[in-house]
Amino acid sequence: MKTVIFSHGDKGGVGKSTIAAVMVDMILERQGTCRVVDGDIKTSDIYNRYQNTDGVDASSLQLNYAGAATVALNNLSEVLDSCKDGEFIVVNCPAGAGDTLDELAGLLSEACELDETRMMATYALGTKEECAGALAESLGSGLMSHILTDNRMVLYPLMQGEKSSFPWETDPAKAKYEGKSGDIPALTPQFVMQAMEKTEGPLANAVGRDDLGLTRFARVSIKHWLSECKSALSPLLFP
Ligand SMILES: Nc1ncnc2c1ncn2[C@@H]1O[C@H](COP(=O)(O)OP(=O)(O)OP(=O)(O)O)[C@@H](O)[C@H]1O
Ligand SMILES: [Mg+2]
Repeated sequence: MKTVIFSHGDKGGVGKSTIAAVMVDMILERQGTCRVVDGDIKTSDIYNRYQNTDGVDASSLQLNYAGAATVALNNLSEVLDSCKDGEFIVVNCPAGAGDTLDELAGLLSEACELDETRMMATYALGTKEECAGALAESLGSGLMSHILTDNRMVLYPLMQGEKSSFPWETDPAKAKYEGKSGDIPALTPQFVMQAMEKTEGPLANAVGRDDLGLTRFARVSIKHWLSECKSALSPLLFP
C-alpha cells in the first residue's frame, strides 16, 4: 500500500508548508525515502528544500489550477501512479487548493482506492474570519470527507494565536468532528524561524549549523520545537 498525505489548510500562511516539511523529515527518518509533491510551482518552498536531499524524490505541479482542476488532479495522479508499494507521498497544498482538491475529492479518492493508496490529511486551521466554515465544508463534501477518521488530523498552528482565536473552536461542525487533532507549537522568536527557513534539506539540519548566526539557545529551541511537532504528528503518520 502507498500512502499519500495532504498538508491541507485554511487559506494562505497558516503553516501548511512547515507542517509538510516536518512530515517529510519524519518519513525520511522512519523509511529512508519519501516522495514530495509541491502543489505550487511559483513558490515551491518544499520542493526547493528537498530537491537535493538524499532519499527524497521531489517534484512540483500546480494544484490550484484555476479553471483546470481536472488537469491538476490528473498531473497529481501521474505522480501517484508512478510510486511503489510502501512509499509515502507528501503533498504540500498551496493556498486555494481547496477549490481543486475539495471539488474533485470524490474522483481522487476512487482513483486512490483502485490503486490501494491510503489517503491521509492534515488540516491547518487559520484564525481569520474568512477561514470559518472552510474546514466544515471540506469535512462535509470535500477532501476531508473522503479520508477515514483515523487518517485525518486537524491542527492548531499556535504561531497564529491561542486556541480560542481559531473560528473552528466555535463552529457547530466541531462537535461532530471525528478524527485526530493536535497542536503545532510556535517557534520563536521569529528570526529563528526565518533562519531555519533559509536552510535546505531536513529541518533538523538547522540544529547542527553554526553559520546561520543563531545562538546555541536558538538551535536548542529549534530541536525542541521540532520534537514537539513530531510528537503531535506521529499519532497520524505512525500510530
Ligand atoms: N510553527 C511555527 N512557528 C512560528 N512561525 C511559523 C510556524 N509555522 C509557520 N510559521 C511562519 O508562518 C508563515 C507561513 O508559514 P507557511 O509558509 O508554512 O504557511 P503556508 O500555509 O504554507 O503558506 P502559503 O499558503 O503561502 O503556502 C511563515 O513566515 C513561517 O515562518
Ligand atoms: Mg505553503
